[in-house]
Amino acid sequence: MVITIDGPAGSGKSTTARLLADRLGYLYLDTGAMYRAVALAVLRAGVRPTEEEVAPLLQRLRLVVRHEADGMHVLLDGEDVTPAIRTSEVGALASEISRLAPVRQKLVAVQREAARRALQAGGGVVLEGRDTGTVVFPGADLKVFMVAEPQERARRRREELRRRGEERTLDEVLAEIEQRDRQDRERALAPLRKAPDAFELDTTGLTIEQQVDLILAEVRERQRRAAV
Ligand code: DC
Repeated sequence: MVITIDGPAGSGKSTTARLLADRLGYLYLDTGAMYRAVALAVLRAGVRPTEEEVAPLLQRLRLVVRHEADGMHVLLDGEDVTPAIRTSEVGALASEISRLAPVRQKLVAVQREAARRALQAGGGVVLEGRDTGTVVFPGADLKVFMVAEPQERARRRREELRRRGEERTLDEVLAEIEQRDRQDRERALAPLRKAPDAFELDTTGLTIEQQVDLILAEVRERQRRAAV
């Protein structure tokens, strides 16, 4: 089974998708981490986030996704950059470079290949991002679109940054989130939007466990219908 979870920054996608994949024994693919890894490479190379400057870098780049006991790791030219991609600077640049066609083409191919291998091995996959239900897997078995009020998303994101040692005010984080949403929704290629057949889940006021249980109920319902 292929499950996609899309939605804006801070809507609770990552934690929910990871737990859901654990509960089902499926592969978890955090597609945002891949855009973040390319952004980190752009930052380190000191190139501008334009197609002309990013495309040659992309050709040289070796991006590998590895699944370990503690979750998904991203390797850039052999270096594990999993913690380094979590800063707000990298997040903002990821949103910028994700507008570029060569970046999207390369990463969508990596995502489809990883999912294909998991399915071939008889498993399932949970993909999480902005376009996983609209572009990467438009034929997914279950599509979830997660939303939450901006204040709550800002609060969650601020907590996440604080845990990583980055202290920010709520207003700063809120402004960044709103800017990122605008950029992700308004871009020409694979913009953030709800697929017409997606199940919308408003996570405002819900705990992670409640979110996972609601999605699991949808999964069971679909499995039941498929078995009839
Ligand atoms: O989910 P995240 O904050 O780690 O994602 C970082 C950025 O990557 C996000 O602002 C837009 C981009 N992205 C994308 O364009 N498509 C995806 N499927 C996932 C992320």
